[in-house]
Amino acid sequence: MNEEPLVIERSPDRVVARLNRPDKRNAIDREIIDVLHALCEELETEPRILILTGVDGVFAAGADITQLRARRAEDARRGINATAFVRIHELPMPVIAAIDGYALGGGAELAYAADIRIATPTLKIGNPETGLGIMAAAGGTWRLREIVGDGLASEMLLTGRLLTADEALRAGLVSSIHAADELLVAAHAIADRIAANDPLATQHTKRAMRAPRETHPGIDGDLQAELFESPEKMRRMTEFLERRGRR
Ligand code: COA
Repeated sequence: MNEEPLVIERSPDRVVARLNRPDKRNAIDREIIDVLHALCEELETEPRILILTGVDGVFAAGADITQLRARRAEDARRGINATAFVRIHELPMPVIAAIDGYALGGGAELAYAADIRIATPTLKIGNPETGLGIMAAAGGTWRLREIVGDGLASEMLLTGRLLTADEALRAGLVSSIHAADELLVAAHAIADRIAANDPLATQHTKRAMRAPRETHPGIDGDLQAELFESPEKMRRMTEFLERRGRR
């Protein structure tokens, strides 16, 4: 068994990163955060799709509570997990979270940082932080709201209630549910669809979607301007037209 806390498999168009601390229910510790930063650096330089997943029926049962208990005010201000999750959210190519079982606290916030989330019927997702005397400070208070809206995010964050797979699907927190042995197949099928498209067009779409409201529609025009001049646009459109004899 591979003992790395984050097992990384690379291929030309995608990387699969598997949280791998099964005896600690994949609790996210400092070492995992450091490896995630190194992975982000790699994917910022050489953009590829990222699939995040877990092991043994668990995505991640939160930040590592042993380490959290020892952290003090200055650690909170450094935003140890928040910084890594922002970086993941801002990766140039799409991030897919394939979530089996528990995604709690920091584990849920890691999933919220993905662009696309899919899950299994055993999903339990949410933020029990207030029960531990802390708050969800790595994306819960803003990203969850953006995904599911203020009402449900408030209920989840202020009560600690976890959502089931059906509830998460209805709320749009995950976009599909798959049997556990089909989860990665489904994640790869999504990655295949993305990989078939133009990578630069995908990256620009993601960048525009992440841009502040007030920068639209200017940013869309600027990014589209670059795409309108790209050889790949010309190639793809010419191929479409020629295939249909519309030249
Ligand atoms: N941080 C550190 N250790 C954790 C952990 C976490 N977030 N979640 C689980 N673990 C450890 C347990 O301490 C235990 O370690 P041990 O075997 O050395 O005693 C091991 O993982 C297995 O956990 P256990 O609780 O026995 O597993 P379970 O299958 O019965 O329950 C959970 C799974 C996820 C329901 C339960 O572990 C849990 O509630 N975890 C904490 C969830 C949480 O509050 N997360 C928010 C943190 S911000």
